[in-house]
Parts: sequence; C-alpha cells; structure tokens
Amino acid sequence: MELGMIGLGKMGGRMALRLLDAGHRVVAWNRTFAVTEKLAREHHAIATRSLEEVVATLTAPRIVWTMLPVGDVTEKAVSDLIALLAPGDILIEGGNADYRDSIRRAQKAFTRGVHFLDCGTSGGIWGLTQGYCLMVGGDKRAYDYCAPLFESLAAPDGCAYVGTSGAGHFVKMAHNGALYGVLEAYGEGFEILKASGYAYDLRALSELWNRGSVVRSWVLELAARAFAAEGNDLQNVRGYVDDTGEGRWMTQQALETNVPAPVITLALMTRFASRQDKSFAAQVIAALRQQFGGHAVRRG
Ligand SMILES: NC(=O)c1ccc[n+]([C@@H]2O[C@H](COP(=O)([O-])OP(=O)(O)OC[C@H]3O[C@@H](n4cnc5c(N)ncnc54)[C@H](OP(=O)(O)O)[C@@H]3O)[C@@H](O)[C@H]2O)c1
Repeated sequence: MELGMIGLGKMGGRMALRLLDAGHRVVAWNRTFAVTEKLAREHHAIATRSLEEVVATLTAPRIVWTMLPVGDVTEKAVSDLIALLAPGDILIEGGNADYRDSIRRAQKAFTRGVHFLDCGTSGGIWGLTQGYCLMVGGDKRAYDYCAPLFESLAAPDGCAYVGTSGAGHFVKMAHNGALYGVLEAYGEGFEILKASGYAYDLRALSELWNRGSVVRSWVLELAARAFAAEGNDLQNVRGYVDDTGEGRWMTQQALETNVPAPVITLALMTRFASRQDKSFAAQVIAALRQQFGGHAVRRG
C-alpha cells in the first residue's frame, strides 16, 4: 500500500522506515527538508516539499498519517490536510492528542467526506525494531482498509480497532496515565533502595527483578539499561521530569467522571515538583511553623 507520512521525527521517521522495510510506498514530508531527502536517498521514500505535493503524489483513496508535536502544529497540519484531501481519503492522526480534539477533528473531516482515524501509538524509539502498539478509533471501514499498514507497523497482534472517534486517543491517554503511576512507583522503590545504607547495585537488582518476580517488566529492562549507561547514582541525570499532556487529561477525566485516581494524580504533581528549584509552598509552611510553634527556619 502507500501512505503519506507527515513528520519524520523520532516516531514518524522510524515508522516510515518500518513501512518501507515492509514494502509499502511512503510519500514523506518533514518541516526540515534535509530529513526527508535523507529518507528518500537512503531508503527510497518519495520526498516532497509541501502537503500539497504529498496529496498530489498519492493515489486516491489517499492515506495520510500525521506524527507531529501535540497542539498547534498538529492542529494546523490536520486542518490543512482536511482542506486538501478529497472525499473517501483517510487521515490518520498518530500523535498523542487529547481525545476531545480528535473527536472535533473527525467531525471537521466528516464534513468534507474525509475519514479521520485517531491512533494512539506506543512503543517509542523501540517500535522500529519491536513493532508498535496501535490503538485506533474512528470509522471501522477506514480502519479495515488501512489494516495492512497498521499490521506492518505493529508488533505481532499489536494493533486493534477500539471504538468510534476519539476512542483510540482515549485509550492512549489511559495507557500513558497508567505509565505515570508505574514510573513513579519504580522511581520511589529505587530511591528507597539507594537511601537504605546497603550498597545495592541497582542495575543488578533491576535485572534480578526481571527473573521471575511479580514486578518484572520492560520498564525494568530499561531501568537496567539506564543504570548501566548512567551509573548507579545517575549522577549526570537531573531529576527534572517533563510531561506532554496525557497525565493532565487523565486527571481531568478522573475528576469529570468521579473516578478516584490518586496515584496518577500524585504522579503528575510529583512531575511538577521535580521542575521546581524551590517550593514556595514549603517556604510558607516553614514560615507558619515558626509563627505558631517557634520552630527554627533555615535561611539562605
Ligand atoms: N517519542 C515517543 O516516545 C512518543 C511515543 C508515542 C507518541 N509520541 C507522539 O508522537 C508525536 C511525534 O513525537 P516525536 O517523538 O516523533 O517528536 P520529535 O522527534 O520531536 O519530532 C517532531 C516532528 O515534528 C516536526 N515539527 C516540529 N515542530 C514543527 C512545526 N512547527 N511545524 C511542522 N513540523 C514541526 C519536526 O520536524 P523537524 O525535523 O523540522 O524538527 C519532527 O518531524 C507527538 O505527538 C508525540 O507526543 C511520541
């Protein structure tokens, strides 16, 4: 089959490679043309310089996949593509979008007869070799039509149609929300080990836990790799943890549907705390404890 890939970053570039390796034709576009040119030169993708050229190069019914940063960049690309594509074409949005944006985009696409699929994509940079996990929402017939592409991208049995518009990105939000909690739990476990007074080899423990233990996981395999690469103390890794939205959407969703989600919510708040050089809340508490109890305040 053939597909237009919009965005050749860490994800889109590797996904294009996996599709090319599986024998599909990839019409590629990237903001920085040198990246597109390299993919064309080294892997026989078809390089284009504009979204118009992508659409003109593909055969109808066209399939175009966006793999761009969440927010305005995706919004503009999706909007431009909906205007350029023809009735019957399929637009797949594979980034980490808010599922409500995906529902809105699908409605906009529908008014032009364009099918919009929202695809939650997991697998990170390892997807190229291991295959991705794809959670797809939208029109089922469009999903079935694109199935050979999804199957080429996915790990064995790693793609599924999960429901109507927005369902794919909703599942990805829940997936990433759960990951917030998983990462926080491992992080805390390792910190308690490190503070124990025992001279634990954290890489060795990560590997040990992956030999038959209840908490064995791919995340622990990655922990072993991280300790091997960065050392037992991770001395050159700053504890500053970013987020790209899913934890916030997940917490909002929990509030809106009265679902108790303390672990995910706290994990999100812990990421916020990781970015502070100093906590004003802690300063207020220290000042208040001095006021009511005469407790000493540390200065400087
Ligand atoms: N990384 C992951 O593990 C992962 C996993 C699942 C889902 N995702 C999602 O996948 C999407 C892509 O992530 P990524 O990791 O591939 O990001 P990335 O490596 O930072 O790549 C971003 C891509 O977007 C392009 N881009 C950036 N700003 C742009 C702009 N203003 N206009 C047009 N193009 C622009 C970049 O082009 P240039 O080459 O010109 O900079 C590049 O092709 C995101 O929605 C992300 O949340 C990521």
